[in-house]
Amino acid sequence: MSVVSKYNRIAPIYELIDLPLELFFFREWRKEALSDLSGKVLEVGVGTGRNLKYYPADCRVIGIDKSEGMLQKAREKAEGRKNITLYPMDAEHLEFPDNSFDYVVITFVLCTIPDPVKALREMRRVLKPSGELIALEHVHSDYPFIDLIEHLINPILFLLLGDHTTRHTVNNIEKAGFTIKEAKKLAFRDVFRKIRARP
Ligand SMILES: C[S@@+](CC[C@H](N)C(=O)[O-])C[C@H]1O[C@@H](n2cnc3c(N)ncnc32)[C@H](O)[C@@H]1O
Repeated sequence: MSVVSKYNRIAPIYELIDLPLELFFFREWRKEALSDLSGKVLEVGVGTGRNLKYYPADCRVIGIDKSEGMLQKAREKAEGRKNITLYPMDAEHLEFPDNSFDYVVITFVLCTIPDPVKALREMRRVLKPSGELIALEHVHSDYPFIDLIEHLINPILFLLLGDHTTRHTVNNIEKAGFTIKEAKKLAFRDVFRKIRARP
């Protein structure tokens, strides 16, 4: 089953599945990462639109996702917000011209995109040279015990959510041509990170 089919299927209950993580961690991280952005923002893998309420009203936000089911939920949240536009689109083939955005935002998405480096190259292409990539992601851990757990749960999470727990996401961002400005450890030692990078 493709990643898109998985997300279409779980869209109605997606926000319940990770509710504890959302309440204890994610919502604070989202707020901190997004509430002072400005200009034109592309959010890749917008999902059910959990980030949308944290963008300032004067930010022009374009959100894309490949799953129509997830987008439908995001559309409900974006209703009445004239500064937000949502499109069905593949992160690996972004339909925007080069140098279009001040920020590209991705939260818990690089773990699910089939070819993350290809998608990251697309994100770099559409970012202005002065722009910034902002990512909240779970990544491969350098701690052997956590690494073991990540390898054990990887097949289960992949089956259910198309989620990879062992990806070297910080390296992948560099591989796509970005310069890492910050890779702050947020929780579970070095697993959850806030990453800021320049094209
Ligand atoms: C784990 S969810 C995260 C959703 C949201 N960013 C959040 O923070 O709650 C991953 C999202 O990435 C989307 N996705 C996966 N592969 C994609 C691709 N190639 N292009 C666009 N979206 C993709 C999925 O449809 C899903 O909505």
